[in-house]
Amino acid sequence: MITVTAPAKVNLHLEVLGLRSDGFHELAMVMQSIELADRLSFENTADARVSLSCDDASLSVGDDNLILRAAHLLRDRSGFSELGASIHLEKRIPIGAGLAGGSSDGAAALVGLNALWGLGHSPADLERMAAELGSDMPFCVAGGCQLCFGRGEQLEAVPPTNEPLAVLLVKDPRASVSTPWAYKRCRELNQSRYLADEAAFERRRQALRQDDWLNPLRSDRPPSLRNDLQEVVAPETAAVRSALQLLKSVPHSLAVAMSGSGPSCFALFRDLESCQQVQGDLAPQLERAGLRAWSCAFRRDGVRIES
Ligand code: C5P
Repeated sequence: MITVTAPAKVNLHLEVLGLRSDGFHELAMVMQSIELADRLSFENTADARVSLSCDDASLSVGDDNLILRAAHLLRDRSGFSELGASIHLEKRIPIGAGLAGGSSDGAAALVGLNALWGLGHSPADLERMAAELGSDMPFCVAGGCQLCFGRGEQLEAVPPTNEPLAVLLVKDPRASVSTPWAYKRCRELNQSRYLADEAAFERRRQALRQDDWLNPLRSDRPPSLRNDLQEVVAPETAAVRSALQLLKSVPHSLAVAMSGSGPSCFALFRDLESCQQVQGDLAPQLERAGLRAWSCAFRRDGVRIES
């Protein structure tokens, strides 16, 4: 049996540059893995079937699940149709939250089954396959801190921070946001202001690469968070507005933003201890607002085989 951890991510930067010829958005992002992770276990079976079970009954374990889509893609590419596996998912990352939980599980399936079935694909091969399944999936393979361009699949590693930064994540368990809806709404509202060509895209990418909080070796300036989807999603999603309002009121946080297409939001702290302290102090307000919270340190890697 092989067990793999699949960490969540937050977006420290999500900038919508424009539209691509494939209909997707051209993005400039900084994604950061955090210490909130699902756990997957993989066992060989002799019946040429790939099956999935999960400890959270609200999650589909059918063929639409990215874990099974990843497993089928990997097996089809291998040419060994007799390969089988029994996969179990312990779900800890909130679903539909903008934390790439589904993408990270899919990436974990590629990494875990590549090892279980002895296929010998390199991480770069697995990232290419991941890009066929979802825009955030390639990042999840190596994780850590990376610049993500294109649809999100063109990766450039960023050196780890000098400081042990951490986030206080907050999410309303009753809310979820559809990513296709968020990008469609962004287009409706902002398309007239989108950048028009590759040269303009590249200037923004270069500006982000040179942003001084990413250089050199992450100076002591903390990340200046930006998420262009926040202004699109927040007006239509009460759960985002209340999470942002609560987080903006807390002391000692460096910055506050929504992650991905939401609805989870986070406040950034210099270290995990101050984050946990604030979470404890906020407990009554979080409970009154019906919000769940997690204190999570930044993590230097993505999907990891544990045993
Ligand atoms: O690639 P993924 O399945 O995660 O994307 C979900 C949806 O989000 C896409 O179908 C598309 O509508 C939107 N999207 C986009 N531009 C991106 C990534 C996602 O428009 N770069």
